[in-house]
Amino acid sequence: MKIAVLPGDGIGPEVTREAVRVLEALDLPGLTLFSGDVGGVAYHAHGHPLPPETLEMARAADAVLFGAVGDPACDNLERHLRPEQAVLGLRKELDLFANLRPAKVWPGMESFSPLRAEGAGAIDCLFVRELTGDVYFGEKGQRETAAGDPEGWDLMSYSAPEVRRIAEIAFRAAAQGSGKLTSVDKANVLETSQLWRDTVNAVAGEHAQVTLDHMYVDNAAMQLAANPAEFSVILTGNLFGDILSDLASALVGSIGLMPSASLGERQTERGTFGLYEPIHGSAPDIVGQGKANPMAAILSAAMLLRHSLGREDEAKRVERAVEKALTSGVLGFDLGGSAGTAEIGDAVLARL
Ligand code: NAD
Ligand code: IPM
Ligand code: MN
Repeated sequence: MKIAVLPGDGIGPEVTREAVRVLEALDLPGLTLFSGDVGGVAYHAHGHPLPPETLEMARAADAVLFGAVGDPACDNLERHLRPEQAVLGLRKELDLFANLRPAKVWPGMESFSPLRAEGAGAIDCLFVRELTGDVYFGEKGQRETAAGDPEGWDLMSYSAPEVRRIAEIAFRAAAQGSGKLTSVDKANVLETSQLWRDTVNAVAGEHAQVTLDHMYVDNAAMQLAANPAEFSVILTGNLFGDILSDLASALVGSIGLMPSASLGERQTERGTFGLYEPIHGSAPDIVGQGKANPMAAILSAAMLLRHSLGREDEAKRVERAVEKALTSGVLGFDLGGSAGTAEIGDAVLARL
């Protein structure tokens, strides 16, 4: 079992360190960790945010544990050299089209949500976000209008097969859980969304046990805050899923609590190849201060155990240890507490 560890920039290395300590503490036979440069760190060392050797290391592994990328010093580089291209490149190159972002309020943590306790306690949903298409990967550029003004443009598109395969994942997730699926789009305005909606409806025909509804993305943002209990599995495109999952992270208390798994079709010996990362970024505002909450990274490692290594028992052990640490009051600065990054890691390890 080979894991490529790519800590990246900013707080990426700080939170990934704690997730690695948790994986190592499980003492799984045959588990080997390799680490590589990615993001701004890789640009500074090798002249490219996703060096070929890092991509090869990821390809050769059973799973990738990813931190975060993004460096304000790189924000004015040509786009293809910016740190964010590394995570986009890994997703595309490895065909990791299915991004699972679970959002739930941990028992006893209701008061950390900006919602009233009864609404907060009901949050338990899964975003199934398409990750290799949409306006993210369309042609883009800057040009001049007829009037001579500078203009930026980005092409949004989805093909039916792209929608079908992510919809299949979402229907299966819904069938295994509550049986309820909400597909989010903007079909009242966008042709891309109309095709999305028609394709999701076609896939629904093969999943009679799942109740499907469609919601416009603006309404979905409102309903997530007003009636979060309404949602179970939420199927979205790449852009809408990015935005709504950050919103959901605030509703569960902090973005420092929300993990993700990005999966494709390639099978490993005991599961599916995937990349696992917190949904947050490199948080330049708190880097180097020991204030980053590593729970999202640790919970991403739990998802890695579950989906790529077929280690459901260990995944649950890690999640229970996180829950116990949180409910016993080990809270980071993001939750109004004073526990530092390593202290939170220690607290999880102690409860494993
Ligand atoms: P961000 O997620 O890095 O930070 C947003 C806010 O949340 C900040 O106030 C930050 O301090 C806080 N925060 C984030 N993670 C936290 C944690 N674990 N513990 C405590 N507080 C936490 O988003 P941003 O500021 O918009 O972006 C910063 C950089 O990260 C940008 O370069 C962006 O492109 C990049 N980014 C990368 C990824 C990724 O690698 N997958 C994801 C999002 C953003
Ligand atoms: C995320 C991030 C990325 C995205 C950026 C860094 C490319 O915001 O993983 O949510 O937009 O997908
Ligand atoms: Mn994001």
